[in-house]
Amino acid sequence: MNDSKASATYGYISSVSGSLIEIKGLENQIRLHDQVQIVEHNIIGEVIQIYSDHVIAQCFESTNGIKLSDKVINLKESLSMELAPGLLSNIFDGIQRPLDIIFNSSDGHGFLEIGIEMPSISRTKKWHFTPEKKINENLEAGDIIGTVQESPLIKHHIMVPPGFFGRLTYVVKKGDYSIEEEIYKLEHNGEEKSFNMIQKWPIYKNRPYKKRIPPNEPLITGMRVIDLLFPLAKGGTVAVPGGFGTGKTVIQQSLAKWSDADVIIFCGVGERGNEIADVLHQFSKIIDPKSGRPLLERIVLIANTSNMPVSAREASIFSGVTIGEYYRDMGYNVAVLADSTSRWAESLREISGLLEEMPAEEGYPAYLPSKLSNFYERAGVVSTLGSDTNRTGSLTIIGSVSPPSGDFSEPVTATTKRFVQAFWALDARLAYSKHYPAINWLNSYSNYPENITEWWNARDIKWDEMINTDWFECRNQVNRILSIENELSNITQLIGEENLPEDQQLVLFIAKLIKNSFLIQNAFDDIDNYTDYGKLLNQIKIILLLYKESKQLIKKGFIIDDIKNLTIINNILRISHTIPNEKFNDIMKIKYELLKEIDSIKYLYGDQHQRLI
Ligand SMILES: Nc1ncnc2c1ncn2[C@@H]1O[C@H](COP(=O)(O)OP(=O)(O)O)[C@@H](O)[C@H]1O
Ligand SMILES: [Mg+2]
Repeated sequence: MNDSKASATYGYISSVSGSLIEIKGLENQIRLHDQVQIVEHNIIGEVIQIYSDHVIAQCFESTNGIKLSDKVINLKESLSMELAPGLLSNIFDGIQRPLDIIFNSSDGHGFLEIGIEMPSISRTKKWHFTPEKKINENLEAGDIIGTVQESPLIKHHIMVPPGFFGRLTYVVKKGDYSIEEEIYKLEHNGEEKSFNMIQKWPIYKNRPYKKRIPPNEPLITGMRVIDLLFPLAKGGTVAVPGGFGTGKTVIQQSLAKWSDADVIIFCGVGERGNEIADVLHQFSKIIDPKSGRPLLERIVLIANTSNMPVSAREASIFSGVTIGEYYRDMGYNVAVLADSTSRWAESLREISGLLEEMPAEEGYPAYLPSKLSNFYERAGVVSTLGSDTNRTGSLTIIGSVSPPSGDFSEPVTATTKRFVQAFWALDARLAYSKHYPAINWLNSYSNYPENITEWWNARDIKWDEMINTDWFECRNQVNRILSIENELSNITQLIGEENLPEDQQLVLFIAKLIKNSFLIQNAFDDIDNYTDYGKLLNQIKIILLLYKESKQLIKKGFIIDDIKNLTIINNILRISHTIPNEKFNDIMKIKYELLKEIDSIKYLYGDQHQRLI
């Protein structure tokens, strides 16, 4: 920043309107998205419009105290993230100011003293660097020079930044270094360039990779309704729309805690200040169930409350995704969680309103779709840069949407739907009846099942009684049962369930069992909070086996009450919260008891028995 000050020509403020400033004198040298600095106040802004005789910039901080004719310089770079060891466990605002320091140094409510300049990542902390390359090796962008154990859970690979390559002429010895110290030098065409551990990357620009790879692995969430019916792929995109209190934040937190991503970037956007403080507080207490270490050791938090400047809010999801891409480039599976993108879209609307742009639907700017698409398109599985082949990484994006009054046809939900491959529609009625996660199975969807079937088949648990009922077939059967239930719902209301034929009553009964024992999942129960794939397969297969056997009983003339009275059903209902993942084979015991009980009632009434009602 200070380098550019020296060579700067000044512009000056010609008008101020909220967070927007009009600047004269820079219009001939400045680019869109360049940052400017109001010299005297040390306030940073971003150029969002350029005219022939002035430019408009939006400030990242309060403009209180700014006067006409205050000097402004062009910093000649767009808003960038600093990428280096020290990101993990940290909490930033949308423009990467470290919030824990802000909270400690300000009045404790996140109101920062205006114009304070502080490094995003600590300059004094020493990291233990282990070199992995030798002098004279020819290196490409993306090659790993060495590693730093950033947290007990994550090794940070120090990579040659995109755009650079050359012969390694110098690399430091194994030892402790701060991120600004010189680590290595590359020589190209007789010119030598020195590098430290910091990369800078503009937030609105995708970080490059070698090529995209179609997703073929699920992001296992441990939520049964998702992993079976509406799966997400590593490198995929999903929207989680739902009205207030339908469980968006609980789902996001469960994903942060349980999903099999290596690194989590959590962007809390625009909720009330105390709500964000709450979320941060909760995150700081969570223990990573897999490692037993604090979850924060593999999380970067980005928080913007509604009392922070609107422009920082707008940047935040792109800041998050940029940090995510950086860890993807190291070869990690990264999940970016944005809660909620509606608050983010509202910040677009606010700025657009200030600029007096022609509004499109419901006051949102006409560029809402392109911004949303720019965000979601940064997800994917990639083969990373670097001469070491075979390094792949993924970035998964999970964005919650909070449509006012839960109406999914409003612009943000409807537009988001165009850019995501999966949709977990949260339903206020389900939430109200305590059916959590409140994912509506009729209007949710996922386009990933075909991509990930092979992954599941490699882990299938074959049941002799149910040949060829793999994961894909299980989800087909469950979908069929739930959709028949839905088709029957009108007639059921009209004539009453008990007047339906026995086989249809059976479908209704099994649908209810699926909902109560499988789809409903308590995020706060020690056993139920996470279901791994082994338990999931066994748990759904036992319900489908019950269905299969019951259908035969009904064909033989048994009535629905014979099935409802099976004592084993109580055990099936309790699997979720009584059988831990590692004991998933206990479900086999329930299976044998089920088959035994079915045999015994067949025996009791004789195989050819026809019961008369
Ligand atoms: N999976 C779940 N298991 C149990 N309770 C849940 C679950 N999801 C949501 N809830 C309940 O619903 C409340 C509201 O959820 P929250 O995620 O804060 O809603 P939103 O973010 O959509 O406004 C939670 O405080 C919790 O009591
Ligand atoms: Mg919430």
